[in-house]
Amino acid sequence: MQILDGRKTSNDIKDEIALEVAARKKNGNKIPHLAAIIVGSDGASQTYVASKVKACQKVGFNSTLIDLPEDTTEEQLLHEIEILNKDTDIDGFIVQLPLPKHIDEQKILMLVNPDKDVDGFHPTNVGRMTLDLPCYLPATPFGIMELLERYQVETSGKNVVVLGRSHIVGRPMSILMSQKRKAGNATVTLAHSRTQNLAKITKNADIIIAAIGIPEFLKADMVKDGVTIIDVGITRVKDVTKKRGYRLAGDVDFEQVSKKAAFITPVPGGVGPMTIAMLLKNTLLASRHR
Ligand code: GUN
Repeated sequence: MQILDGRKTSNDIKDEIALEVAARKKNGNKIPHLAAIIVGSDGASQTYVASKVKACQKVGFNSTLIDLPEDTTEEQLLHEIEILNKDTDIDGFIVQLPLPKHIDEQKILMLVNPDKDVDGFHPTNVGRMTLDLPCYLPATPFGIMELLERYQVETSGKNVVVLGRSHIVGRPMSILMSQKRKAGNATVTLAHSRTQNLAKITKNADIIIAAIGIPEFLKADMVKDGVTIIDVGITRVKDVTKKRGYRLAGDVDFEQVSKKAAFITPVPGGVGPMTIAMLLKNTLLASRHR
């Protein structure tokens, strides 16, 4: 069994980005600038956004954090997005999800200039992705493709089962892995909450991408020997033995499933750090285009 080490791989990618930023600085070129908008005080979201800002500092990017209160109106948020759309120093920006319930997420994401949409959530980028056109790939799927590539996991002709059909992970993963691309050319099954006989489907999978947000859902008796496991889940589970009162759990029963796996991502330290590295990569691409 080999661990797909997202921490190490993401550090490699960040080092590559930092080198390019240093060269730009030396040549007097513009430094990439990422902005993030967060609305409300959700603990996990605050942590993720803080990690994104810290990662910008690490590679030498400029960053701007716009931290808005929970009761921000759609109009106020729209105003902030318009400012970032127009700001010529900002290469890319993200609106951290989830947004408070009174804000229509889809409506908000439509307002982001697709050229600055480094999360790849705007319909223009989603459409371009499905048509194999150049676009910003959403950071988590982009990170998974990069991990599979860098560890040379064979995907061509393999049976891939994606668990979960979210717009951010499951749906785009199912599209990317079916395309003619590196880490693609797979036969893909997209399973979700209405899927019947799930274990029969997962047992036939060469690669399973679990993105359902149910801690330790995928058990050893649901997979075959030699499977590759990508665990996207990261849920805070109450744990009184930990100082902070919780532990982070993936969607996969790592202890048991890892005994049967050829490759597996740990939680934490697998897909999570890759997501941040690929957001930086998208911002670098955005700044190269401008
Ligand atoms: N919430 C969970 N994942 C993401 C992500 O990749 N981008 C944004 N903006 N919000 C998220």
